[in-house]
Amino acid sequence: MKKLLITGGAGFIGSNFVRHVVQKSPDYQVTVLDKLTYAGNLTNLDGVLDGARVRFVQGDICDPAIVDPLVREHDAVVNFAAETHVDRSLLNPGAFVQTDVFGTYVLLEACRRAGGTRMVQVSTDEVYGDVPPGTQSLETDRLNPRSPYSASKGGGDLQCLGFFHTYQVPVSITRAANTVGPFQYPEKLVPLMSTNAILGLPLPVYGDGQQVRDWLHASDHCAAIDLVLHRGTPGEVYNVGVGYERPNVEVVELILTELGAPRSLIRHVADRQGHDRRYSLDCQKVRALGWSPTYTFERCIRETARWYAEHRPWWEAIRARVDFQSYYRQNYEHRLQPAAPPA
Ligand code: NAD
Ligand code: DAU
Repeated sequence: MKKLLITGGAGFIGSNFVRHVVQKSPDYQVTVLDKLTYAGNLTNLDGVLDGARVRFVQGDICDPAIVDPLVREHDAVVNFAAETHVDRSLLNPGAFVQTDVFGTYVLLEACRRAGGTRMVQVSTDEVYGDVPPGTQSLETDRLNPRSPYSASKGGGDLQCLGFFHTYQVPVSITRAANTVGPFQYPEKLVPLMSTNAILGLPLPVYGDGQQVRDWLHASDHCAAIDLVLHRGTPGEVYNVGVGYERPNVEVVELILTELGAPRSLIRHVADRQGHDRRYSLDCQKVRALGWSPTYTFERCIRETARWYAEHRPWWEAIRARVDFQSYYRQNYEHRLQPAAPPA
């Protein structure tokens, strides 16, 4: 396999994956197809986008006129393109259905028409919904999405399975845990808290901050996707997680420690609607393919927080944009306002 179409490759994990392929597989050629939504950023590909080995096409995965010819020119598709932020899905669910369900369908249809192109669908542990303490999600578990984001990702996964069983499109699905590392848009927990801490702004922790997530480094996530692309079985799903289950507030405290910022910046604010309490994955299947993580929990969070401290121009440019500021006001202004004094 030599020619890869990487959709959503100008986003966080997609751009890390492009770097991973460039470093690991010198004989591969990559095309990045990305719409450049608010989350897409060509500077994420600085140093790798040379127009020859790695080229860029701006376009929408929902548009068959762009997708069909590109899929025909490539040996495999890895789909990172998605609307990805749960809080935004509460404000504008339609955009999530459009890209995460319909866009996935357009890619699958192109793979089918091209004669059965290999595809990996990059999905999420959130499709299993809230996981009670003491239990873990298996790939065969019933999907139980509880936000517009996870419902849309679940819809994309089901399209993949439908196209595999009906048309034998050789698609595999990865479902991964919370991922952190370089180039993550500063709306997600770790980059938001890191950049707010650096700026001396309040850190808005939803509810009691005891919600549990598992923390995976982008480079470990990319290695798992690469493995599934090459050694995974079509029609199969692979969970990708580490088992570093930590309450959010512990993650935030570790960021503050790494950045030398005071704990007094933490504000417990109104919770996210429908907030899942815990995710937890059984990952024996991907480990049986030969994957194991290289990052410890501490290194994962500390190194990421440090990356934000050392790359201020990258995120300051994003935070200065009108679209970031209007989203920030919409999601946080009411939460961070001081409570009115009792009447
Ligand atoms: P991101 O928001 O940083 O990047 C998404 C990219 O997709 C952006 O470059 C954006 O411009 C592009 N895009 C969006 N809509 C598009 C469209 N219609 N056509 C073409 N391009 C489009 O996302 P991310 O965090 O890098 O996530 C990548 C994938 O991994 C997503 O499918 C997400 O569901 C999944 N995932 C993310 C995490 C995580 O913690 N970030 C964990 C598990 C799975
Ligand atoms: O689990 C995988 C998923 O992880 C991916 O599929 C999603 O694309 C990705 O965005 C992420 O979803 P989360 O909702 O878990 O990530 P987020 O960084 O938004 O939030 C992590 C936790 O922190 C969650 O419990 C909500 C909480 N949180 C988040 C923000 C942005 C806060 O307490 N305050 C905040 O301001």
